[in-house]
Amino acid sequence: MRPARRVRGSVSLPGDKSISHRYAMLAAIADAPSRLENYSTGADCASTLGCLRSLGVKWERKEDADNVIEVQGSGLSLTAPTQPLDCGNSGSTIRMLSGIVAAQKFSSEMAGDESLSRRPMERVITPLTAMGAQISSQNGRPPLRITGDSLKGIYYQMPVASAQVKTCLLFAGLLADGETCIMEPLRTRDHGEVALRAFGAHLERKGNEVRIRGGQRLRGIAARVPGDLSSAAFFLCAAALFPGAQLTITNLLMNPTRARLLDILMQMGLRISVTQLEEIHGELVGTLQVEGGRLKGATIAGSDTAALIDEIPVLAAIAPYTEQGIEVRDAKELRVKESDRIAALATNLRAMGAQLEEREDGLKIPGGQLLRGAELESFGDHRIAMAFSIAALRAQGETMIRGSECAAISYPAFFAVLEGLVER
Ligand code: S3P
Repeated sequence: MRPARRVRGSVSLPGDKSISHRYAMLAAIADAPSRLENYSTGADCASTLGCLRSLGVKWERKEDADNVIEVQGSGLSLTAPTQPLDCGNSGSTIRMLSGIVAAQKFSSEMAGDESLSRRPMERVITPLTAMGAQISSQNGRPPLRITGDSLKGIYYQMPVASAQVKTCLLFAGLLADGETCIMEPLRTRDHGEVALRAFGAHLERKGNEVRIRGGQRLRGIAARVPGDLSSAAFFLCAAALFPGAQLTITNLLMNPTRARLLDILMQMGLRISVTQLEEIHGELVGTLQVEGGRLKGATIAGSDTAALIDEIPVLAAIAPYTEQGIEVRDAKELRVKESDRIAALATNLRAMGAQLEEREDGLKIPGGQLLRGAELESFGDHRIAMAFSIAALRAQGETMIRGSECAAISYPAFFAVLEGLVER
């Protein structure tokens, strides 16, 4: 990656990863077919589709159209798989789909790649077991062997703020007897709730508590998945690096539980205006006009950390170029993502010559630093590869990122699109 002089252009993102997973899973257990346009092009969302096929769900990719997937809908019961369900690199697939699989009258195994096999699963095992499923694991890690059963609703206070776990339990609750009530410690992204409503389910929310009654049937939907805001984050941060940068992003997800990044970037000095705001199946979508200016610093802590969890890698990667630097707190969860993202950020920033403080639950990165191009590791983590390709745009000299092809986990066209936006 060579340094750039400016960022300029217009881009539309492939469908949001979080929404694509949820739509595919709900379409699979709906009573009628669904048509999902602008489905995520990422390998993670393909892992979800692969698992659904192994569970007897019929779906088809429309080759001539804009990433359109048509899903048949099997009703609430699926077919026993003949082989382990391959979740690849996808935490969302294994955690959210386990909520559906646990309610089926068969046994299945859910497994994934080396990174997924290191990730904590007790956060879904404990509540699903309390609902009546039998689950064995490798010390709380995949592969998971799930013997499904008729589940009963529970009242569950989640110890970790996780939208994947909340969604898993809402899906299990939909298929359980009685009512399930989930209390989250902080408000996390609400795509699970919004998607369930789009498919016709009724849910109630009061503060941080959400309730679902079991046995509700789902209808099919025709939907266009809004552009992925967490992928757009890389281009927004690239624009933030260059005063005078001009960027337009159309059809972008603007769900308030995901859009904290826009507030933070505006506080830091990026000028953002939103037009053509509309609501599609309960999700806000809009067009952004972005202009680069000064780049001040920020502190990200508490509920902001949870709201920005997928965007912290790129914010941290550009932190040395800001005026006051960026401090990230309360981010222990970043250590158990696709890689230990705190360690990966610290290692790569140091390799580029940055000074910083690495903490157990965060980073303190002073501003006003010049970075040099360096040989970096992606650590097999898509967001680390993409974050450092943005940091490289303002570095002195070239940067090489090993294993950068892992960007395809969420955004296969990332490097090609980025090249189209930068001027050298
Ligand atoms: C996601 C929730 C977050 C996020 C992940 C997608 C989701 O994970 O990091 O990329 O779609 O619900 P956690 O639920 O583990 O915080």
